Amino acid sequence: MNSNRSTGVAILGLGTIGSAVARLINQRGASIGELYGLDLKVTRILERGPERAARADLPRDLVTTSLDEILSDDGVSVVVETLGGESPAADWIEASLKAGKHVVTANKEALSKNFDRLQRAAHQSGSALLFEASVGGGIPLLVSYRQILAANQITSLRGIVNGTTNYILSQMTTAGATFDDALAQAQELGYAEPDPTADVEGFDAVYKLSILASIMAGTHIHPDSIERTGITGVTPDDIASASAGGEVIKLLGQATLIGGAVKASVGPERVSADNLLAHVRDNYNAVELVGDSVGPVVLSGQGAGPDPTASAILSDIVEALTSGASSNVPWKV
Ligand code: HSE
Repeated sequence: MNSNRSTGVAILGLGTIGSAVARLINQRGASIGELYGLDLKVTRILERGPERAARADLPRDLVTTSLDEILSDDGVSVVVETLGGESPAADWIEASLKAGKHVVTANKEALSKNFDRLQRAAHQSGSALLFEASVGGGIPLLVSYRQILAANQITSLRGIVNGTTNYILSQMTTAGATFDDALAQAQELGYAEPDPTADVEGFDAVYKLSILASIMAGTHIHPDSIERTGITGVTPDDIASASAGGEVIKLLGQATLIGGAVKASVGPERVSADNLLAHVRDNYNAVELVGDSVGPVVLSGQGAGPDPTASAILSDIVEALTSGASSNVPWKV
């Protein structure tokens, strides 16, 4: 007899990431049962129609078009939000928390624009809002951030937080590709969206930096307050000129705490070829944090792609059900 606690998961949006999460829950079900005593199952899916459920080998009758139906279902403990975009995702995250569901999300845009409001909703509801997958894909970044924050003031951070642009710049640097050819390859590999604006113009990196900078400052750093330059203006001549000087071009997000205020920016920067960040290639991300006691710490791994993202989401689902924490990181409300 299975004595594990039966736990329903609802997925809002069964696109690439949502499907990867469902697949991973199926694959890891037995070991999660053994390690944590949880019998995790996808029990509801919010989608326009049942076709995507069938394609992901999930029963078609799990699909509903009604969020209210999910929120009033006592069998659902965790809502996984993989819709993307700010609206309606931010409101649906808040409604799920208010309905007493834990929420796990990879949605950096909804979070970065509504960070304080959503953290507050989690604290007030007693449910968890966990978002490890929103920054750095599969890198256990926020869990490390939390550990460092317990003993340090983080004074600065910088890093590569967008896999698509890092892939494009890597191809331009190592294979001599043009921007357009490298972008087409990134789209073929599923890193870049059919409309790549959010990645190549730096918006995605700004959303992620906003989340990291907000945690660093302990106050909401809105994405609109972050300086932004994308990579569409980077030419093969720029790459060659950097290379001649022993440097490579990377899209860097940077934030520094100066007298209690944060200065943050995203843009293409020259990095010495000897620097660790210069060796972070393709869809990999890396973030260097500097703590006042620990000094610099570098965290790296795959920052884009369905499987690394699903890895972080599933870890957060287990965390929500086992830890009792209301957030991945400390936040004063
Ligand atoms: N478009 C994002 C990237 C996906 O390329 O990094 C992961 O957030």
